[in-house]
Amino acid sequence: MSAIEFDHVWYRYSSHQDYALKDVTVTIGKGEIVGVVGPNGAGKTTFAKHINGLLKPDKGLVKVLGRDTKDESVARLSRDVGIIFQNPHHQLFSETVSEEVLFGLKNFDVENPGLVAERVLEDFGLLQYREKPPLSLSGGEKKRLCIASAIAWDPKILVLDEPTVGQDLNNKRQLLDLIVSWSQRGKTAILVSHDMEFLWALNPRILVFSKGRILADGKVDVVFTDEEILHEASLRLPQLAELAAKLGWKNPPRTPSEAAKRILEVKGWPM
Ligand SMILES: Nc1ncnc2c1ncn2[C@@H]1O[C@H](COP(=O)(O)OP(=O)(O)O)[C@@H](O)[C@H]1O
Ligand SMILES: [Mg+2]
Repeated sequence: MSAIEFDHVWYRYSSHQDYALKDVTVTIGKGEIVGVVGPNGAGKTTFAKHINGLLKPDKGLVKVLGRDTKDESVARLSRDVGIIFQNPHHQLFSETVSEEVLFGLKNFDVENPGLVAERVLEDFGLLQYREKPPLSLSGGEKKRLCIASAIAWDPKILVLDEPTVGQDLNNKRQLLDLIVSWSQRGKTAILVSHDMEFLWALNPRILVFSKGRILADGKVDVVFTDEEILHEASLRLPQLAELAAKLGWKNPPRTPSEAAKRILEVKGWPM
């Protein structure tokens, strides 16, 4: 059974003339990491909101873990699908950081909620703020709190809308490790992101959205080096892919260290 299945999905906001999703068909397996990219207004967030049932298709079918989202409440789907919205202010409503994490844990009857909350806050570098109001945190910290709250009850699918915005390099590395170990545990991660460098390092499957449709679907090194697709979706080459193109390399390096190693090898310089 797949984790997520979109079958000819069409969706239109009532206040909007054009469809935000047009005939979207895609299947995502358990344990897959999928990056969703595309220009503003392409339908990425609308796609994400269909995964936890916040939006239901006008036409077509969305199945999550084999269940039709039309037959499920958002509350029930939330147990399996943790979603982190683009704007943390749409998500944070508790009086303290600690209560924010505890909310989901208690709601879903997780054992030892206090202990779990403390561990998660520690992991995300937020323990020192536990008695503070969530809205007093910085932008990056708020985003981390949203992720911590959704990870805490260990859902099967994680949907992250622009998770790297406002995060420094260290936090991005931690997020990358978290997503990789998440998928190694057989869990699925969907990341909506404009962060080409982050996605390049993460090496996920990529879905490119444009005008409500899926324009391309493939491995990051194929999709992110296809100039036509990048142009159509207003994306630019990741820096390491650009470097590889300039050097005439067929296989672009994944990390700066890999690039440096290859350059030094060609030059015959001692490592
Ligand atoms: N709540 C809404 N009401 C009306 N139209 C919306 C709403 N949210 C998004 N849209 C429209 O739907 C389209 C897709 O938006 P969205 O899914 O937010 O794109 P993206 O996340 O790729 O920027 C856009 O044309 C946008 O203006
Ligand atoms: Mg969006």
